[in-house]
Amino acid sequence: MAEPARSEELVLTFLAEADDEFVSGEAISDKLGLSRAAVWKHVNALRAQGYRIDAMPARGYRLVEIPDRLGELELRPLLNTHDLGQAVHWFEEVSSTNDVAKRLAEEGAAHGEIVVAEAQTAGRGRRGRVWASPARRNVYLSLVLRPDLPPSRAPELTLLASVALCQAVRQAGVAAGIKWPNDLLAGGRKLAGILTELAADPDRVQWVVLGIGVNVNVRAEELPGELLPIATSLAIERGEPVPRALFAAAMLSALEEWLDRHAEEGFSPVREAWRSMSDTLGREVRVRSSGGDLEGLAEDVDETGALLVRTGAGLERVLSGDVEMLRAR
Ligand code: BTN
Repeated sequence: MAEPARSEELVLTFLAEADDEFVSGEAISDKLGLSRAAVWKHVNALRAQGYRIDAMPARGYRLVEIPDRLGELELRPLLNTHDLGQAVHWFEEVSSTNDVAKRLAEEGAAHGEIVVAEAQTAGRGRRGRVWASPARRNVYLSLVLRPDLPPSRAPELTLLASVALCQAVRQAGVAAGIKWPNDLLAGGRKLAGILTELAADPDRVQWVVLGIGVNVNVRAEELPGELLPIATSLAIERGEPVPRALFAAAMLSALEEWLDRHAEEGFSPVREAWRSMSDTLGREVRVRSSGGDLEGLAEDVDETGALLVRTGAGLERVLSGDVEMLRAR
């Protein structure tokens, strides 16, 4: 007999798969090997968590609405992944999902475990910036990966993540492009960012945490004043809210597909896809990095993921830094 929490998830999955149709209590109990009373109990437990489930005497149950939350119960029935999101660590609020994921990785978390929060009190961006993380508006998700890679190839995963994210955003109906290395822009404004952190031995990566922040449903009037001119969200771009769980599941599927492809074929298909989605290549840019600033034409990314910039002094290879476009499109 399945344990209660698992049975609840199975009942939910069964209802979700019925696609707005009623399913009889008998069909659920036969299929899942539960008593009719147990099915009723699980339906009520789900309702208590915000699921709206209709019940009609001769017809059974129908799932009408799922709560706007990114917990295991909401995500798992939507996932078609084999590794990513098979374990979900969900929090109403955390300091930073990356901090939690890093701790879990150090404690032995498996490849694909994810940390999701409805809000972050100390969300972090690249280069020590703050990542605005208002409650229940967006996706704040960190993924533990254990790739079989030398540390020198870790930057490939950063570009890979931006390709997968861009694909999921485009599937959600928003025309986005990637600013090197992995910022997602729509109409020149920032939609999503990725913070990659890792631990490595000299010859092998131990773990990588991909921290992904996507502005999904935050509204323009909710953005802090300083972000208003430079940030956007899927809802702002589409003019209507986007179901966060569906978006997160699509993003995890895209990530897994690209990770599998990368493991089999290496960086070259990722690089091709990155080039085709790039908002940076072919443009005049200024790159600010710890080594100083440089200006020139962003020509390409090389086979390691570095940005190649044609300056007055020749072709410069940029490994890290912040890119600023010097002219609007
Ligand atoms: C950037 O563009 O500067 C990267 C932003 C990354 C934000 C995400 S939100 C989930 C995860 N937790 C964090 O504290 N940061 C990342």
